This record gives sequence, structure tokens and C-alpha cells, in this order.
Amino acid sequence: MNFKKKILITGGAGFIGSHVIRKMVKKYPDYLIVNLDKLTYAGNLNNLNEIVNHVNYKFENIDINNVKAIDSVFKKYLFDSVIHLAAESHVDRSISNPDDFIITNILGTLNLLNACKDTWGNSDNNCFYHISTDEVYGSLGETGFFTESTSYDPRSPYSASKASSDHLVRAYGHTYSLPVKISNCSNNYGSHQFPEKLIPLIINNILNKKPLPVYGKGENVRDWLWVEDHANAIDLVFHKGKTGETYNIGGHNEWTNIDLVYLLCDIMDRKLSNNEGDSRKLITYVKDRAGHDLRYAIDATKIEKELGFKPSLNFQVGLEKTVDWYLDNKSWLDDVTTGNYQNYYKQHYK
Ligand code: NAD
Ligand code: DAU
Repeated sequence: MNFKKKILITGGAGFIGSHVIRKMVKKYPDYLIVNLDKLTYAGNLNNLNEIVNHVNYKFENIDINNVKAIDSVFKKYLFDSVIHLAAESHVDRSISNPDDFIITNILGTLNLLNACKDTWGNSDNNCFYHISTDEVYGSLGETGFFTESTSYDPRSPYSASKASSDHLVRAYGHTYSLPVKISNCSNNYGSHQFPEKLIPLIINNILNKKPLPVYGKGENVRDWLWVEDHANAIDLVFHKGKTGETYNIGGHNEWTNIDLVYLLCDIMDRKLSNNEGDSRKLITYVKDRAGHDLRYAIDATKIEKELGFKPSLNFQVGLEKTVDWYLDNKSWLDDVTTGNYQNYYKQHYK
């Protein structure tokens, strides 16, 4: 079959990647979508059951640090575009084990950039699109927003590794005229998120009647975006974003952690027919995250004005849908919380 585009998507078995792959495979049957994923603890092929048999979908079990394998997969498919999501993504893990973050997020990105540089000219038909985070901008005080021109000030090994990979992507755009794009997004939530991150961890702990660990005083603020909206934004930037540009993506939806946990507790109590306030009794304030960034908030004016992006879902509705998904997919949760997860949890929350 002759495909109109051949797109390599890295990290497609993870949380955001699986939403992007499901969307692209179904929406663009004339594109070949190749998912390249190492399948770390965070990668789960069950996330892709819905599209696994589509003729325009292929999977390659490859580490982005395996240069030979990257080279041969580029030769095999002759990609015209890359949407790069593969990464170590959890801030707490980056504090206890920074090395993997440097290796995958910086060196892995470099390997992909080199493969594109060696394969492509600077044709309009090519695109290396790097999916990044608002954490590269550092931490805000009580006011203000991150814009695309905010100076970089990463403060965790995770955000430093993502900032470094953003710089490499821009440097390849500038030095080698590689056609690059970057977007920096706020906190995503929704189905298929690994229960090390706040929202699915709280849901899983309520289900198992375990303490709900809130770092510090629970006063840190995050801007939450429905993962499907992030996938829509990625589709927009990929197709309509200008080469060489950066787009901030956010939800205009700031919550302190403690208010978010209260809201989740109340939704869970209602859905599980618990007594009012049962889950809130599980809240436990624990030692703060080292170097914990106080507040993230995105000014998304550029993507809204230039590309027409708008978050589609109200947070309460999105959280209800998220909780429903986890309640309907308890076996998914059970599968990913056995083995290594137990060790991680014991270690981290000791
Ligand atoms: P995730 O941890 O759920 O998934 C990461 C995926 O990358 C997994 O499938 C994993 O197997 C794969 N992977 C990891 N190392 C690899 C390697 N060396 N080679 C190949 N594959 C590898 O992450 P996520 O939350 O879906 O985040 C995806 C991307 O979006 C990341 O780049 C992250 O920095 C960025 N991002 C995430 C958020 C968020 O809220 N989760 C927000 C903004 C940006
Ligand atoms: O802002 C975008 C970033 O959002 C992404 O780049 C990261 O990949 C993603 O993991 C996320 O980072 P955070 O550190 O903000 O997400 P996390 O879910 O780990 O934590 C959200 C907030 O909740 C944060 O202030 C820490 C707090 N927290 C987290 C956990 C896991 C707790 O209070 N208790 C917990 O047990």
C-alpha cells in the first residue's frame, strides 16, 4: 500500500503516546504509523489493543539508545516525520535515579536527531516534532504564566534532561536546517496513566484503602489538561504548526494538589457508594519532594490564536471520565501494579 505519510512515533506504548497513536491510526488511514518503544515499566502494548490490527499500524520493540537498530528501522520504513514522545517521565524517579533520564531523554533524542539529519534533506515534507514539558521553565510564584519566551530554568534531573533535549532539537534546526517543532505541555490526566503519577496513584490507593500520600502541605499548583486534548494539540502542531516554532499547551486549569485530592476523594466516594468523607480520611501528608516546584501555569495564547486550539473538557467531567475508566479497567491497574511496581512503591513511600 502506498502511504501518504510515514510517521515514526516513539514512546507510543506509554500514557500520552498511546492516545496519540490511537488518534492518528484511526483518523489518518492513509498514513503509516510506526510505534517505536523499548517497553520499559511505563510502556504497555495492551494500551493499543484497539488499533493493533489496523493495516496502517506497525510496532518496533527498540530502545532509542540502540543506534544500529534506529539506523535499520529508518532504512526499513523511510520515515518522512518523527513525533518523539519516548522518555523517562516521572520526576520522583529522576530524583532517585537520574542516569536513566540523561541516557534516554538526552542521548536517545540525540540518536533520533542524527538519524533524521543523515536521512533527510531540509525538505518541507519532513518534520521532527519533539514533545516536551512546561517543567523546563522552572517554577512560578503565586502569579504569572509560562510563555514560549520564558527563560529555561529546569530544577529537577527530569526537567533538566527535557530542557537539554529541547536545546538539542533547536540546535539541529539551526545548525543543520533540520525541520523541527517543539511543544511544551502542562500536566496531563486521563485513561492509561501509570499509577506512579498523582491522579492514578490516588485512585488506585482509594481502591485499595491505602494512605493517600500528599507531599509537603499539598499547596503546590499544577495546570491539568485532558490527555485527549493534548493529543488533539499534537495533531494540530504536527499538521499546521510552523517549522522551527515552539508552542505551549495548557488547560487554564490550576489546582492545588490538596484541592485536587479532595475532589478525587469525593468523586470516588460517590462512585463506590462509600460514606461521604471516607476517602478524605486516608489523606496522609508525607515528606515533600526534593526541590519541589511550587507552581506551573501555561499561557497558551499562541497555539489558541495561531492554530485554533481549545481544551474541550471541563475538569470535573474529565476527572469523572478518568475515574470511570480506572473503575472499568481494574485488571489493567492490577496488571501494572504487580512486581516491580510494589518494589518502587515500598522504596519511594517508605
Ligand atoms: P510514559 O512514561 O507514560 O511513557 C513513556 C514511553 O516511552 C513508554 O512507553 C516507554 O516504554 C517509552 N520509553 C522509555 N524509554 C525508552 C527508550 N529508551 N527507548 C524507547 N522507548 C522508551 O510518559 P508520558 O507521560 O506518556 O509522556 C510522554 C512524553 O510527553 C514524554 O516525553 C514527557 O516528557 C512528555 N510530557 C508528559 C506530560 C505528562 O503530564 N505526562 C506532560 C508534558 C510532556
Ligand atoms: O508539567 C508536566 C509534567 O507533569 C510532565 O512533564 C511529567 O512527565 C509529569 O509526570 C508531570 O510531572 P509532576 O511532577 O507535576 O506530576 P506528578 O503526578 O508526579 O505530581 C503532581 C503533583 O502532585 C506534584 O506537585 C507532586 C504531587 N504528588 C505527587 C505524587 C506522585 C504528591 O503530592 N504525592 C504523590 O504521591
